[in-house]
Formats: sequence, structure tokens, C-alpha cells
Amino acid sequence: MNDRFLKACKRQPVDATPVWFMRQAGRFLPEYRKIREKHDIISICKNPELCATVSTLPVEILGVDAAIMFADIMLPLEALGVKFVIKETVGPVIENPIQDLRSAQSLSDLEPKSDLPFILEAIELTKKRLDGRAPLIGFCGAPFTLASYLIEGQPTRDFVNTKALMYRDPETWRTLMDRLATAMTNYLRSQIHAGVDAIQLFDSWAGCLSPEDYRQYVLPYSERILKDLENAEVPRIHFGTGTGNLLEEMKEAGGDVFSVDWRIPIDEAWQRLGYDVSVQGNLDPAVLLADITFIKSRAANILKRTCGRAGHIFNLGHGMLPNVAVENVVELVRYVHNFGHESEIQS
Ligand code: CP3
Repeated sequence: MNDRFLKACKRQPVDATPVWFMRQAGRFLPEYRKIREKHDIISICKNPELCATVSTLPVEILGVDAAIMFADIMLPLEALGVKFVIKETVGPVIENPIQDLRSAQSLSDLEPKSDLPFILEAIELTKKRLDGRAPLIGFCGAPFTLASYLIEGQPTRDFVNTKALMYRDPETWRTLMDRLATAMTNYLRSQIHAGVDAIQLFDSWAGCLSPEDYRQYVLPYSERILKDLENAEVPRIHFGTGTGNLLEEMKEAGGDVFSVDWRIPIDEAWQRLGYDVSVQGNLDPAVLLADITFIKSRAANILKRTCGRAGHIFNLGHGMLPNVAVENVVELVRYVHNFGHESEIQS
């Protein structure tokens, strides 16, 4: 079993820095694009055979130390009664955005075993396919990030409608966040039961909030999910982007590993979070569009800043971009694994 990733999640010493990439299973892999020619993304997620194949690809092609389930944060919302499409190059578009208490109350409960059997089956199949070559990460969207899609109805830059509802209609906000938190807790529990080795809570857009608003409107709900899974004995990764202003609050909400983006130096983020947690992320995904010498220099910068301290997981600050060259990613994985051993390799 390759357990570098899980050891780093627990801040145990490792033989080499573990590395995986957010959105590693997606569009930049030609093998994925070939499957996508015949199937849309939701159909892949609902087909355990295809889903296991796509989830395993990055371990086979890139040599990464963890696989992530091929799914989308929107997928479980279908079972709550939300109608949406994932528009190419745009993202999720909701048919009837949430606007009032009635629409928030109309969201159904989630029964993962009957509502999402294909995901649980895909987890079991992916675990078998991986056969110990890498652990498997399950995930869900955090209540705030899901709520932002449900309220805005489509991707947004400023989150104005989300904030307006949050400030103007606290009862609807509480109802919506409460339902999402309960559904996502059930969802993650069922993924853990089906065999995932770690979970990641994606709060991609929480960085748009002030610390005060995060604390008042978001923290209690993410905290409920993360606390509830504390005794499930799998590492919990808490992810956000643009969250340099929220690190202390996110830590209070909970998690074993914190994912930071490139807007903050990783050593500064780790110092503020405290060395009793692990860190992941930090490389700007756009760096992977540069040449390999530049990519390695930026990777070296991150690895020097983390000083070989136990608990560092190499990753991007956000998702892999579509037009990245696969051979550069393979080379980067090798570079991260060998970092600190280069002199031995060269001699
Ligand atoms: O490695 C992987 O790709 C794992 C699978 C995965 C997908 N979505 C598949 C996907 C994961 C982990 C996600 C998470 C996700 N989805 C997040 C959180 C992470 C983040 O990037 O902030 C969010 C916000 C979404 C919602 C979403 N889905 C958006 C905004 C988009 C469009 C933008 C984009 O990146 O293309 C999607 C579509 C989507 N989800 C694609 C994939 C591979 C691309 C479209 C496709 O291949 O059909």
C-alpha cells in the first residue's frame, strides 16, 4: 500500500513528499477526453465502470500518491430535487434557483444508499482497481459553496445574490445551510462506509467572505460536518481558495489538512494554522502552463518553504487547467518525489 499521502495527513514522517492534483482526473488527460467524446460528465459519474476507470487514470499515468473519486460537487443535489445542467466551459446552471424559504424547505433529505447507489458502487470498484497503489479520496461541496450555486443559479464572480439572501433573509439562509450540512454529512459518511480513505470538503468560494461573515453564516455548518466525521477515523481535508483572510476561522471549523491557494506563502499559512495540522496546495495551476524548468523552480520554492516538515502534501492551489502538458505533470511528480534526494540520484 502506498500510504505516503495518509501518513502526511497524520503528520507522520514519509519517504518522499506525497503529491496529487485537484481535478487530476479531468480534461487535461487525453484518455479522459476520449471517454468524454461518448459520454457527458454526469453519465460518467453514474456509470461505476467508467467512473472507476477515470478515477484510476491519474495514478497510472501521473504516478500521484492519491486518487480522487470522479464526481462533481453538484451530483448529490440532484437527489435533493435540484434540476441542473453542467454547461461546457461554464459550469453548473440551475433550473430554479433558490430565492425564498419555500424553495429552501422544498429540498429533500438525502438517502445515499437509495439516492446515489452508483457512487457507492463506484467507490468499491475504484478501491479494487487501485489495489493499494494509492488511497482514494471522497469529497463533497461545503454548504456555502453549494448554496452559492443554488442561489446564483450559475457561476458568479461577486456572489452578490448569495450575500443579499444571507443578510436579508436569515431564516431562509439557516434553512438552506442546515439542509445542505445534514445531506453532506450523510453523503460523506456513506462514502467512508463504502471505502474512501480520506475526505475533502470543497469550500471553493468561501474566500469571498469577510472573517466576520464566515464566522456568523458559514462556520457553524462546515463545523457540524467536520465534527460529525471526527470519529470516522479518515483524514478530513478542508479546502478553500482566496482564504488567506480566513485561515484561523477555517481551522476553528475543523479538519486535519488545510488546502491553501497561491495568494499566500505556504510557510506563512502553515505558521498561522499551527503545526498541529497538515497543509496541501499552493502551486498556482497556471504555473503548469510554463516550461518544465520554471515549473520545477516554483515547486522547489514550495518544498523549501515547507522544509521537509511532516504533514506537507504537494498539490495545486485550485484545479488543474485543461491545456496542461501531461509530460510536464509526470516530470513534476517525479521531481517532488525526488526532492532532497537529487544529489544521490545524480551521483
Ligand atoms: O479530478 C477530478 O476532476 C475529480 C472530479 C471533480 C469534478 N468536479 C469533475 C468535473 C471534482 C473534485 C469536482 C469538484 C467541483 N465541481 C468543484 C470544487 C473544486 C473547485 O474546482 O473549486 C466545483 C466548484 C465544481 C462545480 C463545477 N463543475 C464547475 C465550476 C465546472 C465547470 C468548470 C470546469 O472546471 O470545467 C464543473 C464541470 C466539471 N466537473 C468538469 C469536470 C472534469 C469539466 C467538464 C467536463 O469534463 O465535462
